[in-house]
Amino acid sequence: MQRTLISKLHDHIGKEVTIAGWVDVRRDQGKLIFFDFRDMTGKVQGVVLPDAPDAHDVGSKVRPEWVVRVRGKVNQRPPRAIQKEKQNGDIELEILEISVLNEALTPPFDITGDGKEIDEEVRLRYRYVDLRRNRMQENIRNRHRVIQFTREFYTNEGFTEIETPYMTKSTPEGSRDYVVPSRLAHGKFYALPQSPQQYKQLLMAAGFEKYFQIARCFRDEDTRGDRQPEFTQIDMEMSFAAQEEIMALNEKFIIRLVKALYPEKEIQETPFPRLSYKEAMEKYGSDKPDMRKDKNNSNVLAFCWVIDFPFFEKTDDDSWTFTHNPFSAPKLEYLPDLMEKKNIGNILAAQYDMVLNGSEIGGGGIRNHTPEALKKVFEIMGYTPERIEKNFGYMLKALSSGTPPHGGLAFGFDRLMMLLQNEPNIREVIAFAKTGEGRDPMTESPSEIETKQLQELGIKIEDK
Ligand code: AMO
Repeated sequence: MQRTLISKLHDHIGKEVTIAGWVDVRRDQGKLIFFDFRDMTGKVQGVVLPDAPDAHDVGSKVRPEWVVRVRGKVNQRPPRAIQKEKQNGDIELEILEISVLNEALTPPFDITGDGKEIDEEVRLRYRYVDLRRNRMQENIRNRHRVIQFTREFYTNEGFTEIETPYMTKSTPEGSRDYVVPSRLAHGKFYALPQSPQQYKQLLMAAGFEKYFQIARCFRDEDTRGDRQPEFTQIDMEMSFAAQEEIMALNEKFIIRLVKALYPEKEIQETPFPRLSYKEAMEKYGSDKPDMRKDKNNSNVLAFCWVIDFPFFEKTDDDSWTFTHNPFSAPKLEYLPDLMEKKNIGNILAAQYDMVLNGSEIGGGGIRNHTPEALKKVFEIMGYTPERIEKNFGYMLKALSSGTPPHGGLAFGFDRLMMLLQNEPNIREVIAFAKTGEGRDPMTESPSEIETKQLQELGIKIEDK
């Protein structure tokens, strides 16, 4: 018999159906055995009556998390047994036959609750069990809905989704790179991208004009509640657009997204208020201010933009480094200063961050689209002409090939999901997250590799 999804049982009242799924709960009352069964669409209660001896035999053996196929009749519950607030609370499956499709060891922890009290290391070790709980199913399914919405939104706005490489070149661009040794090019390494920044600019050089991507990024930095070594960005870039247009488009995206998928949430203020970096620091002591008037209401979303960031800051050894992104352009009025390398500390970048309830959920900028301007940024940072050529020669060449003015933005997708789902950290919205130390307790990675693999790569591990 064809499988009926649990959410569709209502269409079959009075009829025989077959469902397939997991045993969620089992309550053995001797003559009667009650079950809650679960599939991807929800839960239903089932009961084995005394007049079904075969089902009773199997039913007394099965345990929570066993996978079963169940044939039964969908009955309306008597009025006094109706549980209005529950899915399928007005029906019950009268079990005629249970087939065990797979047994299960006793689960390592309870999955009926929200799981927040369970040691996270253990949850991550048995993530496939942990993900069965309601809260995690909802987080991951809503993540999918937001991705779908995102694809549709940017596509409708004329953007093309383009994948960019994961095996790229190591460039000093912000944090530390994860590197991948090359077997064929002995002693050489790829780097995993910290973001698609350079590729999306090269796509502007290539004439696509409007690009977006749901992109994985890799950064070897200390992991925190809102940071993972690999995370996802909603990344976009567009040509011939002013800062205002890019900000307006992404603000529209966020407002539409909240209205469509999180109608219960209230955006505190539109258009999103804007603060300069200076104002934010003076008023809130933070460049990601929490603007919520009432921090107790979990459904308030207080967005703001922070703009006018200083382009450069002093490093410990008294040289200059960029604050955000070496590819940013200065605000137009500061271009002469950049080109003449003067008043460096005063130069403001055409850089904008989107902040939500005190978290930086996105950032972007207008880029330097002439090779001369980009070169000046690296010169100010003290790079020698040789180093500029070696690290960024291809970018400078591309900018010399007819590259239009362009700019863009990237949202931290996991952070956005964390806030929309009212979760305390981004691991709760990532199917297979890593621990605070960047480990995966399930696969036990990172791990040693075989001597043969090391030999092929020409790599020797030294004792620490
Ligand atoms: P940026 O480095 O600001 O900009 O990153 C954009 C957004 O990504 C999120 N984010 C992270 N999320 C989880 N874990 C991390 N380790 C992590 N690091 C950053 C943040 C941040 O706002 N290429 C530029 C974007 C651009 O200019 O278009 C970039 O990557 O929410």
